[in-house]
Amino acid sequence: MPRTLDPELRRALAARIRYYNEMGIYDFYRRPPSEHAGEVAALIAVDEAGTRILEHTLEPGEEMSPRKAAAVARPVAIHDDENIFEVIALKPEQSVGDPVKALKIIREDLGDCTRCVLHKQGRKQIVFGVGNPKAELMFVGEGPGADEDAQGEPFVGRAGQLLNNMIKAMGISREQVYIANIVKCRPPGNRTPEREECETCSPFLMRQIAVVKPKVVVALGAVAAKTLLAMSASMMQLRGRFYEFRPTGVRTNDPNWDGCKLAVTYHPAFLLRDPRQKGEAWKDLQMVMKELGLKAPKATT
Ligand code: URA
Repeated sequence: MPRTLDPELRRALAARIRYYNEMGIYDFYRRPPSEHAGEVAALIAVDEAGTRILEHTLEPGEEMSPRKAAAVARPVAIHDDENIFEVIALKPEQSVGDPVKALKIIREDLGDCTRCVLHKQGRKQIVFGVGNPKAELMFVGEGPGADEDAQGEPFVGRAGQLLNNMIKAMGISREQVYIANIVKCRPPGNRTPEREECETCSPFLMRQIAVVKPKVVVALGAVAAKTLLAMSASMMQLRGRFYEFRPTGVRTNDPNWDGCKLAVTYHPAFLLRDPRQKGEAWKDLQMVMKELGLKAPKATT
């Protein structure tokens, strides 16, 4: 039976997480509950490469001596609703007010990433994201293609040209929005990124979203939509409505931003293949424009 976390243990756990944060360790995860009796909570920390560097089981009343970091490998039993790590762990950029600096911290954290196989499958560079660090509107695509890989910027190829036109049709410019992808490295042959690759890379995107604090995120295509919403459905089912969105795994510590709306529309590359769907995509964008109080520019003759 899962148990709720004892308040004393919760405090102890918080103190320990703060201690690890101070040492520069920010990524924790929780082991799934198990049958083992008498075991209450474990802290598991991973380093940049995803290697488990520490695992520590906490007991109620345990003194939080920083030196007492015994690596005890035992299962945990925390109440399912109680994701203490999400509640407590603040990312390093979250203590920085300037979004440019905060995004830089995330980029530095990403480093010369080797967390998934894409790093050894021909990527030229990591494509982090581009645009207004305080954008009200953010577009999220799937992953870099050849042009993006070459230039280090998302959506600069043919699909990017169409995205630029879509943005312009909304009465704004590319510079006003923020653009990023679910995966930051080009999948070989432009294949769809694997789920594991999306799951490994998307925590960085979640952190970028939490820094930019947009009013609306537009997920371009099924990969972006399914990853951000953590749900599986067809584009037909996903489009046409807003979702309440909060970046997963990031504690939102800003009283003025506790998430945003998310809309799903067709990926520009799909629209290039099937231009008949452009009208449907325009409907999605009009829904977004209404939310943001944007007016389409008057057509010039
Ligand atoms: N397609 C994407 O999903 N992202 C890009 O950056 C370019 C093409």
